[in-house]
Amino acid sequence: MRLSGLGYFGLRTAKVEEWRAFAEDVLGMGVTDTADGIRLRGDDRAWRIALHRADDEEFGYAGWEVPGPAELAEARAELKAAGVAFEEATAELLAERDVVDLIHFEDPDGVRVELFHGARLEVTHFVSPTGVRFVTGEQGLGHIVFNVDDYEKTYAFYTGLMGFRPSDFCDLGRKRIAFLHCNPRHHSLAFAGLVIDPERPLRKDIDPGELFHFMLEVEDLDTVGRSYEAARAKDCVALTLGRHSNDRMVSYYARTPSGFEVEFGTGAITVSDPWPAVRAAGTSLWGHHRTEKQEGRNA
Ligand SMILES: [Fe+2]
Repeated sequence: MRLSGLGYFGLRTAKVEEWRAFAEDVLGMGVTDTADGIRLRGDDRAWRIALHRADDEEFGYAGWEVPGPAELAEARAELKAAGVAFEEATAELLAERDVVDLIHFEDPDGVRVELFHGARLEVTHFVSPTGVRFVTGEQGLGHIVFNVDDYEKTYAFYTGLMGFRPSDFCDLGRKRIAFLHCNPRHHSLAFAGLVIDPERPLRKDIDPGELFHFMLEVEDLDTVGRSYEAARAKDCVALTLGRHSNDRMVSYYARTPSGFEVEFGTGAITVSDPWPAVRAAGTSLWGHHRTEKQEGRNA
């Protein structure tokens, strides 16, 4: 498959109003109301993140974008050949996502994958409530990171079938992480598989298919610093400022109203193919310390 990037994602949440304030004050995204919640805008696209009102906090769907109809037709043929069942979008779903065409299926951990083309571009400028400028364009929305049950199976699915290429890997002993790209962004997708260690039993509160965090990149360090201050004021900093070893992004992590985290950073390197995927000995060069209050959750 030929993906152009992460176009959008959707979450189910019981905390729509908390999300509204968090999105505006901490992330600097624009908020619009929908029939069942809110949508967040961060660039010229009509929307990038959807929050659907629900009883629980749950990842809903990842919208992976393909360039156009030919690539979506190719994807259908590849899914059929691989024996992966998929469904065509109803007219109602196309209207809701505001795209021209879309198919959806599940990844090995039950995460809903949507492949689409034809997102709507607004004619009005995106004006951030905090003056943030997000790095999107050919790099897509950002990245999403999941916990997975079967690392090998997930790796085969995303690289073999969906066409992601490895950027690098990180082996943390009891957890290994794959970082994958589909455009110049260092990684649009990463997933962690836990290695069973009898000394340290697996945490039961993170299910396969659960989101660890999503990442938004902004244009400059001061914007990251100001967001960090806004998160401090709300007492929701999860990881302190730090620089990642692989994509070299300087970022901090905030705890979202849903419980999982958002990485907010700047200055990541971009990749091109072929890219030599290395094994990083740790995730950060410095910083990214878990704040005391947030300890107890695996990241
Ligand atoms: Fe990240």
